[in-house]
Amino acid sequence: MKILKQPSTTFFPVPAVLITTLGKAGKPNIITLAWAGVVNSEPPMIGIGVRPERHSFQLLQDSGEFVVNIPTASQVKQVDLCGVYSGADTDKFQLTGFTPEPATKVKPPLIAQCPVNLECVVRHVLPLGSHHLFVGEVLAVQVDEDYLDSHQLVDIAKMQPLAYATPSYWSLGQPLGLYGFSKKNQ
Ligand SMILES: Cc1cc2nc3c(=O)[nH]c(=O)nc-3n(C[C@H](O)[C@H](O)[C@H](O)COP(=O)(O)O)c2cc1C
Repeated sequence: MKILKQPSTTFFPVPAVLITTLGKAGKPNIITLAWAGVVNSEPPMIGIGVRPERHSFQLLQDSGEFVVNIPTASQVKQVDLCGVYSGADTDKFQLTGFTPEPATKVKPPLIAQCPVNLECVVRHVLPLGSHHLFVGEVLAVQVDEDYLDSHQLVDIAKMQPLAYATPSYWSLGQPLGLYGFSKKNQ
């Protein structure tokens, strides 16, 4: 029997990512977001949901640029730190030990220790209620070569990305099959 619950964002798993932004004063910040995902392929676009009360919100509004930094499961503590401290009063690069590194197409820095970085420019902002949806076009992608396989794809087994299912962080389990495997096996 199914229990009918109130409408909510009971939707999982989702990624937990680190978004870097840059303020007018030139100070970079990091925010942890779970409301983030791919919203378009051509051009490549990522949507992120950010509450107006976040320090990062103003930085996003001001600069119109951000970097999506995809962490590994081993970086879970830094991910949590960036989600419970505010850049309004804390330097989260100092707090986490993460190193800011210049991006190639946008002004906010990327996080050197995160193996995948997507440099984005904001194309649309949609106020939805509790959050604004910022839709960013991906202008450049950087991947640590140590995590690329022989086909130049990200080696997920090696990278071990982090997942989130409110209120817990998870690591991924085993791969179950390649896209389209069911048709080939018919
Ligand atoms: C796992 C996790 C996921 C989060 N997801 C979001 C999110 O999607 N949107 C949001 O506005 N805040 C989210 N937060 C809260 C912010 O990360 C948190 O308020 C942070 O301290 C804001 O940083 P800032 O003030 O430096 O911008 C999340 C926090 C955690 C720990």
